[in-house]
Amino acid sequence: MKVAVIGAGGRVGSNAAFALQCSGVVSEIVCLDVNQAMAEGEALDLLHGAPLCGDQVIRAGTYADCADMDCIVITAGLRRKPDESRLDLINRNVSLFKTILGEIKNAGLKRDAIVLVVSNPVDILTQLAVEFLGLPAQQVLGLGTVLDTSRFNALIAESLGVAPTQVNALILGEHGDSMLPVWSSASIAGLPLAKFKNVTPSWQNQIFERTKKSGAEVISRKGGAGWAVGTSIRAVVDAIALDRKCIMPVSSLVDGPYGIRGVCISVPTIVGRCGVVKHVELELWPKEMSALQASAAALKNTRAGIK
Ligand code: 2OP
Repeated sequence: MKVAVIGAGGRVGSNAAFALQCSGVVSEIVCLDVNQAMAEGEALDLLHGAPLCGDQVIRAGTYADCADMDCIVITAGLRRKPDESRLDLINRNVSLFKTILGEIKNAGLKRDAIVLVVSNPVDILTQLAVEFLGLPAQQVLGLGTVLDTSRFNALIAESLGVAPTQVNALILGEHGDSMLPVWSSASIAGLPLAKFKNVTPSWQNQIFERTKKSGAEVISRKGGAGWAVGTSIRAVVDAIALDRKCIMPVSSLVDGPYGIRGVCISVPTIVGRCGVVKHVELELWPKEMSALQASAAALKNTRAGIK
């Protein structure tokens, strides 16, 4: 599978390209950026490691290459300031994002191409991509709360002293202030999380609050997230490339499940080569369901405010 990373000259895009190279699943990685020299520099730097990594084609490219891509990852965009919410970022990013969508559309897309939006606010920009690109909605995904879910699991694992890969706890909703934790189905190695010592309401609150603020916590220390975002992007792209049909909280157009209609938001989603295979309706606690619906309403309200 051939993948273009738009914004590969930046931290998120270059970290994503490196993660894709390390996983070795995709056959071609094309680095695009408004700063062509940066795109070329990142591609060259990655290529230099190919003999020790794998035999993928790695190169810099232009929007014209999108016509031959199976997956297009859009990471370009302005980064949040430490005290700025993702939705505040929207006005600075919408016009830039529309320009990018126009370039992709002009290049032409493969009938079965998948677009993965990462730029923030990711749910709103995913909705714009669904509306503008003319691809079937199931072929347009947003990274959504995949990164938040990874952070959530990492913090739970660190606090309880268990293996991060064995923690299964979801963050759903907006990749932003209205995201919600799903404690009702949280487990570690198949054992209910609630059964673990130290899991108290105040512990849960402290873990979730830190998860929600993790983006800002990283921004305040190193200017912006990169490694975990890149790994999250790699997980979604590999699920598409391998047609894994794994359940991930990607953002996509939800129309019916959870009583949500017509908004891009993260719910449990089976991801495969076609993009969204199916939305999965989990049994949620009433307070989780109302938080998810409130998150959808907040996103819908924001979308309505954009021209
Ligand atoms: C984050 O949460 C970049 O939105 C991303 O760090």
